[in-house]
Amino acid sequence: MNKKTFLVTGAAGFIGSHLAKRLIKEDHRVIGVDNINDYYNPKLKKDRIKHLGNDKFTFIKTDLENQDTINNVFDEYQPEIVVNLAAQAGVRYSLENPHAYINSNVVGFINILEACRHHNVEHLIYASSSSVYGANTSKPFSTSDNIDHPLSLYAATKKSNELMAHTYSHLYDLPTTGLRFFTVYGPWGRPDMALFLFTKAIINDEAIDVFNHGNMMRDFTYIDDIIESITRLTKRPAQPNPDWSGVNPDPGSSYAPYKVYNIGNNNPVKLMDFIEAIENKLGKKAEKNYLPLQAGDVPETYANVEDLYRDIEFQPQTSIQDGINNFIDWYLEYYGVIL
Ligand SMILES: NC(=O)c1ccc[n+]([C@@H]2O[C@H](COP(=O)([O-])OP(=O)(O)OC[C@H]3O[C@@H](n4cnc5c(N)ncnc54)[C@H](O)[C@@H]3O)[C@@H](O)[C@H]2O)c1
Repeated sequence: MNKKTFLVTGAAGFIGSHLAKRLIKEDHRVIGVDNINDYYNPKLKKDRIKHLGNDKFTFIKTDLENQDTINNVFDEYQPEIVVNLAAQAGVRYSLENPHAYINSNVVGFINILEACRHHNVEHLIYASSSSVYGANTSKPFSTSDNIDHPLSLYAATKKSNELMAHTYSHLYDLPTTGLRFFTVYGPWGRPDMALFLFTKAIINDEAIDVFNHGNMMRDFTYIDDIIESITRLTKRPAQPNPDWSGVNPDPGSSYAPYKVYNIGNNNPVKLMDFIEAIENKLGKKAEKNYLPLQAGDVPETYANVEDLYRDIEFQPQTSIQDGINNFIDWYLEYYGVIL
C-alpha cells in the first residue's frame, strides 16, 4: 500500500495508541487527536503517547466537539484515511453521565463526518461496539441482525454512529466502515475494564466484583487481533453491495459504500474461566464478591465474524491465557510490581 496520511482520533486511548504504533511502523504519516480527558488516569494516556514518540507521528490535543479545531486539523494535514476511535467509552458510566456520551460520540462524530465530507477523505473507519446487539439473544451476533433494542445510552450512541455514517455514505459517497469491537483487552488496556480491575485487586489482596454471580460470557478479543483487522480494513474502503435489496434490507451493508463488521474472537469465554486465567498467571486466588447483573450490561456476547474473514482473510485468534499473560507482564512492568 502507498504511504498514506492517517488521522487517528482517540490516539491516546487504548486501541488508538496501538493502532498509531502499527501505522507508524508501516511508515505511514499519523496525526493523532485526543482530548486526554480524565475518565481514567490521564497519566496512562500521556504515557501511551510518549511510548509512540516518532517523527512520523504528530499529536494534537483537542476535543472532537470543537468543530473549528477539527476542521483546522483536516485543513492542515489533509488526511486520506480517518480512523475515529475517540469516544466516551464504557457501558456503566453512561448511566451516570449520559451527556458525556452525546457530546463526544454524537456531536463529536458529526464533526468528523462533516470534516471528511469537505476534505475528500478516501475512507472513514469508526468504532462501534458489540453492545449495539442489546437485548438480542440469537447467537452468534451477526451484522445482518436487526439491532433496534439497545440496553444503554452508550450502545444507542454507537448505533447512532452507524446510522449517521450511512447517510454520509449515501449522500456524499463517503466510504464508511463501522467496527463492532467485542471486549478488547491487552497491554496498555483500560483501567475501567475487568482485566485491569481484577489484576489490580488480586495483586493488592482486595476482593473482585463478579457480576451476574459469575454467569457472564464475553467474546474477549486480544488487542493485536483488533489492530491486525483494522490495518487490513484500511486497505479496503467500504464498497457498495451489488446484492443489497431495499425489499429485504441487509442492515450490515448497503447500495452505498457502507459496511459494518464484528471484530470478536468468535469464542466466548465464561467469566469464571477468565478469572481463573488471571489467577493462574498471578499464582494467587481471587476473593470474589458475587453481585447481580449491572443495569445496562448484557450477560453474553458472541461474534459472528464470517464477513470479516471473507473480506480480509483474518479473524481474531489469540487464546485467552496468552492474551492475559501478555497483559499481566505489561502491568507488572509498567507499575513496577514485583510478585
Ligand atoms: N475497549 C473495548 O473493549 C471496546 C469495545 C467496544 C468498542 N470500543 C470503542 O473503541 C474505541 C476506543 O476504545 P478504547 O478502549 O481505546 O477507549 P479509551 O477510552 O482508552 O480511548 C478513547 C480515547 O478517546 C479520547 N476522547 C474521548 N472523548 C473525546 C473527545 N470528545 N475528543 C477527543 N478525544 C476524546 C479519550 O481521552 C481516550 O483517550 C471507542 O470508541 C470505544 O467506544 C472499545
